[in-house]
Amino acid sequence: MRIILLGPPGAGKGTQAEKLVKKYKIPHISTGDIFRAALQEGTELGLRAKEYMDQGELVPDDLVVDIVKERLEQEDAQNGYLLDGFPRTLAQAEALDESLRASGTPLTGVINISVDPQELLERLTGRRVCRGCGATYHIKFNPPTVRSVCDKCGGELYQREDDTVETVKQRLEVYRQQTAPLIEYYGRKGILFTVDGSQEIDEVFRAITTILDRQQ
Ligand code: AP5
Ligand code: MG
Ligand code: ZN
Repeated sequence: MRIILLGPPGAGKGTQAEKLVKKYKIPHISTGDIFRAALQEGTELGLRAKEYMDQGELVPDDLVVDIVKERLEQEDAQNGYLLDGFPRTLAQAEALDESLRASGTPLTGVINISVDPQELLERLTGRRVCRGCGATYHIKFNPPTVRSVCDKCGGELYQREDDTVETVKQRLEVYRQQTAPLIEYYGRKGILFTVDGSQEIDEVFRAITTILDRQQ
């Protein structure tokens, strides 16, 4: 199963990805997570990406595309994968298509998680992420049992640097201009499925798995 999760910042891509990869036993490939991990390791890639991420801008296409292509060649991705946060521009989508055509491995489907812009701001500014395992929480909508402590691994929860009001507004604008056109792009290919992302987390999950189970 080769899936893309599409949706604006805060739509719940990461939250749903955590649950989907457990059910379908495929790797979760999030370009945002790859950049944040690179930054933590202090690599050149991490430092370059940070300049863009802190501004709420996209990292340049050539950099992102090479990383994803390499990742998709790894052993664990040969029986499928879930892409989260990639592609985010038409150029990225075209590059992915070309490489999937070359390897004869078409996408199973693109899940578009749709949420009203007003709700996204509240979701992102209240988000907390685990330093240990990357699990995602929300102070109001999905709080951990003990404040600032991860339920899954006991790790410390932190707030992402790009989750400030100013940066979130910029990210939403960048989404509108550069990523939203992918809805039409995949719609024309007949592989786009839109789910209502403003429902409860478990309901969104049920909607997505109903679609994917039909596609298998
Ligand atoms: P990335 O890390 O991909 O961030 P994003 O796309 O902005 O998306 P988010 O991770 O913020 O949101 P999400 O949809 O995963 O929501 P989540 O599940 O956490 O990218 C960061 C940056 O990296 C980019 O700005 C860019 O600079 C760079 N980058 C990454 N990929 C790139 C690419 N391909 N090209 C160029 N640059 C790239 O949920 C959000 C919150 O809501 C959480 O608190 C959660 O608990 C809560 N929540 C989730 N679902 C629900 C629900 N149903 N009801 C109530 N609350 C919910
Ligand atoms: Mg995410
Ligand atoms: Zn954790």
